[in-house]
Amino acid sequence: MSKRLDKLSALIPQCRVLADVGCDHGYVGIEALRTGKARQVVFVDVSPLSLDKARANCPHELIDSVRFVCRDGLGELNSDCAVIAGMGGLEIVSILTKAKFPPPCLILQPNRNAREVRNYLCGQYDVIYDGMIYDGGIFYNMIFAERSEKPQALSNLELEFGKTNLASPTRDFKLFLLKEQAKFSKILNDCSDPKIVEKLSLVEQALSVVGGQQ
Ligand SMILES: C[S@@+](CC[C@H](N)C(=O)[O-])C[C@H]1O[C@@H](n2cnc3c(N)ncnc32)[C@H](O)[C@@H]1O
Repeated sequence: MSKRLDKLSALIPQCRVLADVGCDHGYVGIEALRTGKARQVVFVDVSPLSLDKARANCPHELIDSVRFVCRDGLGELNSDCAVIAGMGGLEIVSILTKAKFPPPCLILQPNRNAREVRNYLCGQYDVIYDGMIYDGGIFYNMIFAERSEKPQALSNLELEFGKTNLASPTRDFKLFLLKEQAKFSKILNDCSDPKIVEKLSLVEQALSVVGGQQ
Protein backbone atom coordinates (compact mmCIF):
# COMPACT_ATOMS: atom_id res chain seq x y z
CA MET A 1 0.00 0.00 0.00
CA SER A 2 1.08 3.60 -0.48
CA LYS A 3 2.12 5.94 2.36
CA ARG A 4 -1.30 7.62 1.99
CA LEU A 5 -3.23 4.35 2.35
CA ASP A 6 -1.00 3.25 5.26
CA LYS A 7 -1.76 6.50 7.10
CA LEU A 8 -5.51 6.14 6.47
CA SER A 9 -5.38 2.57 7.82
CA ALA A 10 -3.41 3.68 10.88
CA LEU A 11 -6.07 6.29 11.73
CA ILE A 12 -8.90 3.73 11.83
CA PRO A 13 -9.84 2.88 15.43
CA GLN A 14 -11.22 -0.40 16.73
CA CYS A 15 -14.82 -0.54 15.45
CA ARG A 16 -17.73 -2.87 14.85
CA VAL A 17 -18.96 -1.72 11.43
CA LEU A 18 -16.68 0.33 9.18
CA ALA A 19 -18.09 1.96 6.04
CA ASP A 20 -15.48 2.42 3.31
CA VAL A 21 -17.30 5.04 1.25
CA GLY A 22 -15.94 5.59 -2.25
CA CYS A 23 -13.98 2.39 -1.65
CA ASP A 24 -12.82 1.81 -5.26
CA HIS A 25 -10.05 -0.84 -4.82
CA GLY A 26 -11.22 -1.43 -1.22
CA TYR A 27 -7.68 -1.59 0.21
CA VAL A 28 -8.46 0.47 3.33
CA GLY A 29 -11.48 -1.62 4.36
CA ILE A 30 -9.67 -4.88 3.59
CA GLU A 31 -6.69 -3.79 5.74
CA ALA A 32 -9.07 -2.89 8.60
CA LEU A 33 -10.45 -6.45 8.52
CA ARG A 34 -7.02 -8.04 8.18
CA THR A 35 -5.68 -6.17 11.20
CA GLY A 36 -8.81 -6.90 13.25
CA LYS A 37 -9.67 -3.19 13.63
CA ALA A 38 -13.13 -3.68 12.08
CA ARG A 39 -15.42 -6.65 12.62
CA GLN A 40 -17.44 -5.88 9.49
CA VAL A 41 -16.84 -3.63 6.51
CA VAL A 42 -19.46 -2.23 4.18
CA PHE A 43 -17.81 -1.24 0.91
CA VAL A 44 -19.76 1.54 -0.79
CA ASP A 45 -19.19 3.02 -4.21
CA VAL A 46 -21.42 4.90 -6.62
CA SER A 47 -19.63 3.20 -9.52
CA PRO A 48 -20.37 -0.50 -10.14
CA LEU A 49 -16.97 -0.88 -11.84
CA SER A 50 -15.16 0.53 -8.79
CA LEU A 51 -17.14 -1.71 -6.45
CA ASP A 52 -16.18 -4.71 -8.59
CA LYS A 53 -12.51 -3.88 -7.89
CA ALA A 54 -13.13 -4.07 -4.13
CA ARG A 55 -15.03 -7.35 -4.62
CA ALA A 56 -12.18 -8.81 -6.66
CA ASN A 57 -9.54 -7.67 -4.14
CA CYS A 58 -11.37 -8.98 -1.09
CA PRO A 59 -9.79 -12.28 0.08
CA HIS A 60 -12.19 -15.21 0.22
CA GLU A 61 -11.61 -15.78 3.96
CA LEU A 62 -13.06 -12.30 4.72
CA ILE A 63 -16.23 -12.79 2.70
CA ASP A 64 -18.49 -13.36 5.76
CA SER A 65 -17.46 -9.98 7.20
CA VAL A 66 -18.17 -7.80 4.17
CA ARG A 67 -21.03 -6.22 2.23
CA PHE A 68 -20.82 -4.44 -1.10
CA VAL A 69 -23.28 -1.64 -1.72
CA CYS A 70 -23.51 0.29 -4.97
CA ARG A 71 -24.95 3.67 -4.05
CA ASP A 72 -24.30 7.38 -3.72
CA GLY A 73 -22.94 8.07 -0.23
CA LEU A 74 -24.04 6.54 3.06
CA GLY A 75 -27.82 6.75 2.59
CA GLU A 76 -29.45 4.85 5.47
CA LEU A 77 -26.34 2.85 6.33
CA ASN A 78 -25.63 2.72 10.05
CA SER A 79 -21.93 2.35 10.83
CA ASP A 80 -19.85 3.32 13.84
CA CYS A 81 -16.98 4.54 11.70
CA ALA A 82 -16.60 5.70 8.10
CA VAL A 83 -13.58 6.33 5.95
CA ILE A 84 -14.25 8.71 3.07
CA ALA A 85 -11.04 9.29 1.17
CA GLY A 86 -9.69 10.28 -2.19
CA MET A 87 -12.48 12.60 -3.31
CA GLY A 88 -13.19 16.32 -3.17
CA GLY A 89 -14.05 17.97 0.13
CA LEU A 90 -17.38 19.25 -1.17
CA GLU A 91 -18.38 15.70 -2.12
CA ILE A 92 -17.38 14.49 1.37
CA VAL A 93 -19.49 17.21 3.00
CA SER A 94 -22.42 16.36 0.71
CA ILE A 95 -22.16 12.64 1.65
CA LEU A 96 -22.12 13.46 5.38
CA THR A 97 -24.91 16.03 5.13
CA LYS A 98 -27.20 13.60 3.29
CA ALA A 99 -26.42 10.61 5.58
CA LYS A 100 -29.39 9.46 7.65
CA PHE A 101 -27.01 8.29 10.41
CA PRO A 102 -23.82 10.38 10.35
CA PRO A 103 -21.16 8.02 11.77
CA PRO A 104 -19.79 8.83 15.25
CA CYS A 105 -16.24 8.43 13.99
CA LEU A 106 -14.80 9.68 10.70
CA ILE A 107 -11.53 9.33 8.81
CA LEU A 108 -11.53 11.81 5.96
CA GLN A 109 -9.04 12.57 3.24
CA PRO A 110 -10.26 15.36 0.98
CA ASN A 111 -8.28 15.88 -2.22
CA ARG A 112 -9.24 19.58 -2.14
CA ASN A 113 -11.50 21.96 -0.18
CA ALA A 114 -10.25 20.68 3.18
CA ARG A 115 -11.38 23.94 4.77
CA GLU A 116 -15.02 23.20 3.84
CA VAL A 117 -14.69 19.74 5.44
CA ARG A 118 -13.32 21.29 8.67
CA ASN A 119 -16.11 23.86 8.62
CA TYR A 120 -18.68 21.08 8.41
CA LEU A 121 -17.00 19.06 11.19
CA CYS A 122 -16.60 21.84 13.70
CA GLY A 123 -20.37 22.14 14.27
CA GLN A 124 -20.74 18.54 15.45
CA TYR A 125 -17.41 16.71 15.68
CA ASP A 126 -14.18 17.13 17.62
CA VAL A 127 -11.20 17.04 15.30
CA ILE A 128 -8.76 14.70 17.05
CA TYR A 129 -6.09 14.60 14.33
CA ASP A 130 -5.71 16.80 11.27
CA GLY A 131 -2.30 16.38 9.71
CA MET A 132 -0.62 16.23 6.33
CA ILE A 133 1.53 13.73 4.51
CA TYR A 134 3.54 14.07 1.31
CA ASP A 135 3.28 11.02 -0.92
CA GLY A 136 4.27 10.67 -4.56
CA GLY A 137 4.67 14.42 -5.02
CA ILE A 138 1.23 15.25 -3.56
CA PHE A 139 0.28 16.74 -0.18
CA TYR A 140 -2.68 14.97 1.47
CA ASN A 141 -4.75 16.21 4.41
CA MET A 142 -5.86 13.41 6.76
CA ILE A 143 -8.53 14.05 9.37
CA PHE A 144 -9.78 11.91 12.24
CA ALA A 145 -12.89 13.25 14.00
CA GLU A 146 -15.31 12.03 16.66
CA ARG A 147 -18.87 13.22 17.14
CA SER A 148 -19.23 15.43 20.19
CA GLU A 149 -22.00 17.05 22.21
CA LYS A 150 -19.80 20.11 22.68
CA PRO A 151 -17.51 20.32 19.69
CA GLN A 152 -14.35 22.40 20.06
CA ALA A 153 -14.18 25.53 17.92
CA LEU A 154 -11.33 25.81 15.42
CA SER A 155 -9.39 29.01 14.82
CA ASN A 156 -9.19 30.55 11.36
CA LEU A 157 -5.66 29.13 10.90
CA GLU A 158 -6.77 25.68 12.10
CA LEU A 159 -9.67 25.76 9.63
CA GLU A 160 -7.27 26.65 6.84
CA PHE A 161 -4.39 24.28 7.65
CA GLY A 162 -5.48 21.67 10.22
CA LYS A 163 -4.88 21.76 13.95
CA THR A 164 -2.28 18.97 14.16
CA ASN A 165 -0.24 20.58 11.41
CA LEU A 166 -0.03 23.77 13.45
CA ALA A 167 0.44 22.15 16.88
CA SER A 168 2.99 19.49 15.80
CA PRO A 169 4.34 20.63 12.43
CA THR A 170 6.12 18.02 10.35
CA ARG A 171 8.77 18.59 7.68
CA ASP A 172 6.08 17.77 5.10
CA PHE A 173 3.81 20.53 6.39
CA LYS A 174 6.62 23.12 6.50
CA LEU A 175 7.55 22.13 2.94
CA PHE A 176 3.89 22.59 1.92
CA LEU A 177 3.79 26.09 3.44
CA LEU A 178 7.03 27.13 1.74
CA LYS A 179 5.74 25.88 -1.63
CA GLU A 180 2.45 27.73 -1.15
CA GLN A 181 4.33 30.89 -0.16
CA ALA A 182 6.47 30.70 -3.34
CA LYS A 183 3.40 29.99 -5.51
CA PHE A 184 1.31 32.88 -4.17
CA SER A 185 4.26 35.32 -4.22
CA LYS A 186 4.89 34.47 -7.88
CA ILE A 187 1.20 35.06 -8.76
CA LEU A 188 1.27 38.42 -6.96
CA ASN A 189 4.34 39.46 -8.98
CA ASP A 190 2.17 39.27 -12.11
CA CYS A 191 -1.19 40.56 -10.82
CA SER A 192 -2.74 41.83 -7.64
CA ASP A 193 -5.62 39.59 -6.58
CA PRO A 194 -7.09 40.25 -3.08
CA LYS A 195 -7.90 36.52 -2.66
CA ILE A 196 -4.26 35.59 -3.27
CA VAL A 197 -3.11 38.38 -0.93
CA GLU A 198 -5.33 36.82 1.76
CA LYS A 199 -4.04 33.30 1.03
CA LEU A 200 -0.41 34.47 1.22
CA SER A 201 -1.12 36.25 4.48
CA LEU A 202 -2.56 33.01 5.98
CA VAL A 203 0.45 31.01 4.79
CA GLU A 204 2.82 33.55 6.36
CA GLN A 205 0.87 33.51 9.64
CA ALA A 206 1.15 29.71 9.66
CA LEU A 207 4.89 29.90 8.91
CA SER A 208 5.35 32.20 11.87
CA VAL A 209 3.45 29.71 14.10
CA VAL A 210 5.40 26.64 12.97
CA GLY A 211 8.76 28.39 12.88
CA GLY A 212 9.38 27.99 9.14
CA GLN A 213 11.59 30.50 7.34
CA GLN A 214 9.88 33.41 5.56
C1 LIG B 1 -10.19 8.20 -6.29
S1 LIG B 1 -11.25 6.96 -5.66
C2 LIG B 1 -10.68 6.82 -3.99
C3 LIG B 1 -10.60 5.39 -3.56
C4 LIG B 1 -10.16 5.18 -2.11
N1 LIG B 1 -11.15 5.67 -1.20
C5 LIG B 1 -8.83 5.83 -1.86
O1 LIG B 1 -8.76 6.78 -1.07
O2 LIG B 1 -7.82 5.38 -2.44
C6 LIG B 1 -12.81 7.78 -5.42
C7 LIG B 1 -13.96 6.79 -5.46
O3 LIG B 1 -15.09 7.43 -4.84
C8 LIG B 1 -16.25 7.05 -5.56
N2 LIG B 1 -17.26 8.07 -5.25
C9 LIG B 1 -17.24 9.39 -5.58
N3 LIG B 1 -18.33 10.00 -5.09
C10 LIG B 1 -19.05 9.06 -4.41
C11 LIG B 1 -20.28 9.07 -3.69
N4 LIG B 1 -20.99 10.20 -3.54
N5 LIG B 1 -20.72 7.93 -3.12
C12 LIG B 1 -20.00 6.77 -3.27
N6 LIG B 1 -18.84 6.70 -3.97
C13 LIG B 1 -18.37 7.82 -4.52
C14 LIG B 1 -15.76 6.98 -7.01
O4 LIG B 1 -16.63 6.18 -7.80
C15 LIG B 1 -14.38 6.37 -6.85
O5 LIG B 1 -14.42 4.97 -6.92
